[in-house]
Amino acid sequence: MRPGLRSLLLSPPLSIALCVLILLSLCLRCQAVQAENVTVLEGGTAQISCRLQNYDGSIVVIQNPRRQTLFFNGTRALKDDRFQMVLFTQRLVRITLSNVSVWDEGGYFCQLYTDDTHHQVATLTVSVPRASPATLRWMRDRREIQGVVSQQDYGKTYSVSNTITIPVTMRDNGAQVSCEASHPALGTQRKVRHYRLDVHFAPTVKIIPPPGILREGDSLSLFCSVTGNPLPRNVQWSRVNDTLPERAETVGPTLTVSRLSQAHNGTYLCQAHNNYGRAADHYALLVYEYVSVTPTAPPTAPPTSHPATSVPASLTPVGAMDPRDPGAVVETQSAVPYAVIGGVLALLVFTIICVLIVTIWCSVRQKGSYLTHEASGLDEHGEVQEAFLNGNDTREGKKEYLL
Ligand SMILES: *[C@@H]1O[C@H](CO)[C@@H](O)[C@H](O)[C@H]1NC(C)=O
Ligand SMILES: *[C@@H]1O[C@H](CO)[C@@H](O)[C@H](O)[C@H]1NC(C)=O
Ligand SMILES: *[C@@H]1O[C@H](CO)[C@@H](O)[C@H](O)[C@H]1NC(C)=O
Ligand SMILES: *[C@@H]1O[C@H](CO)[C@@H](O)[C@H](O)[C@H]1NC(C)=O
Ligand SMILES: *[C@@H]1O[C@H](CO)[C@@H](O)[C@H](O)[C@H]1NC(C)=O
Repeated sequence: MRPGLRSLLLSPPLSIALCVLILLSLCLRCQAVQAENVTVLEGGTAQISCRLQNYDGSIVVIQNPRRQTLFFNGTRALKDDRFQMVLFTQRLVRITLSNVSVWDEGGYFCQLYTDDTHHQVATLTVSVPRASPATLRWMRDRREIQGVVSQQDYGKTYSVSNTITIPVTMRDNGAQVSCEASHPALGTQRKVRHYRLDVHFAPTVKIIPPPGILREGDSLSLFCSVTGNPLPRNVQWSRVNDTLPERAETVGPTLTVSRLSQAHNGTYLCQAHNNYGRAADHYALLVYEYVSVTPTAPPTAPPTSHPATSVPASLTPVGAMDPRDPGAVVETQSAVPYAVIGGVLALLVFTIICVLIVTIWCSVRQKGSYLTHEASGLDEHGEVQEAFLNGNDTREGKKEYLL
C-alpha cells in the first residue's frame, strides 16, 4: 500500500465520516416504526399510517391522544366504530377515522409493544371552516326576554351564553321559558330547550263556604283551598276557643259536620304551612233554627209567629222579614215580578178596551157625518184625523208604560 493512501485512510476527516455512516445505518435498522402527520376537514375521514421497517411479527399498538389503545395488533380495543383498521402488512399499518371532530385532534401513537421508547406520533389536525357563532334567545309566551350575552372564541369553536334575570312571583310558578339557538348552518330551523319555572312560595289558604244558609240538621262541608310551593302536605282544621264538634270529620282538605245543631256555631280555622311560612282562613258558622216547610199550610195559621218560621215567605211583606234570613228574602224578591206582571196585564186589557170603544165610536160618528153633511166634508175630515191621532196617543202612552 502506498503511504499516501494509508495516510488518507487514517486521516481524521475520513474516519469521522465512516463512523457517522456506521451509526446512521445502525439507527435506520433500529427505527422500526414511522408515523405521518395528517390534516383533515371536520366531518371527513382521516387516514393514520404507521410505516414498519424490519418487521419481525411483534405486536403493533395504536393509541389515541389520551393514550387509550385503539388497536392491539389488529384487534379493536376501544369501542368507537369510527376507527377501522384497513391495512396491516409487513411495511404498513393503516387505520381510518371517519366523521372527524375537533375533539379528535392530537397525537396518535404507533409503537411496537415490546419497545415503548421507539413509538412515533402522528399528529392529527382538524380544520374547521370558519363559521359565525350561534345566536341565543330566551322566549316566554312568544316574546323575547333580553338577557346578557357573552361569547368566547376558542379559535375553531365558539362558546356563547345568554343569561336572563327575571323577577318572579308565585303566579310565575310552572311558567315555561325556552332558550332558542339559531345558526346559519341550521337554516330556518332552531334548536330549542324548554324550561319550567319552579317558584317557591309560602302557602295561601281559602275556605270555600257552602252556598246558602245552614239550618239545624243540615250537613256542613267546608273545602279548604290551599296553594304553595312546595304544596303543604296537610291542612289543619280547628275551632277558635273551642274543640271541633264530635261529628266533625276531616278528609284531606275538607271538613264535614253532619246533623248540625246551634251548638256548632263558632269560628272554624283552616291552616297550612310549608318551609316558607304559614297561612290561615276562617269561617264563621251560624246554624239557623229548623223550619218545617209546609206549602199546603192552612190559611188560618198565624201570619208571623216568629220571623224565621213564617209560612209562605212570598206572602210576607219585605219590611217584616228577618234581615239575617237570606233564604226568606230571596223568596219574597222572586215573588215581586209576578205582582208587577199581573198589574201590567190588567192595564193592557183596560187600554185595549178603551181603544176599541174610541175606534168604534169614531167610525159610527164618521158614517153619520157623511150621511148628513156631505158638502162640508173638510171640517169633518179634520175631526176624524184628530180622533185617530188621539187613538195613536193612547197607544203610545201604553207603550211607554210597558217599557
Ligand atoms: C408533526 O406534527 C408535530 C406537531 O405539530 C410536529 O412537532 C412534528 O414535527 C410533525 N412531524 C412531521 C414529520 O411533520
Ligand atoms: C400481529 O399481527 C400481524 C399481522 O396480522 C401478525 O403477522 C403477527 O404475527 C401478530 N403478532 C402477534 C404477536 O400476534
Ligand atoms: C358525526 O358526528 C356527529 C357529532 O359527533 C354526530 O351527530 C353525527 O351523527 C355523526 N355522523 C355520522 C354519519 O356518524
Ligand atoms: C276567643 O276568646 C278570646 C278571649 O276569651 C276572645 O277575645 C275572642 O273574641 C274569642 N274569639 C272568638 C272567635 O270567639
Ligand atoms: C247560632 O246562630 C244563630 C244565627 O245567628 C242564632 O240564631 C242562634 O241563637 C245561635 N245559637 C247559639 C247557641 O249560639
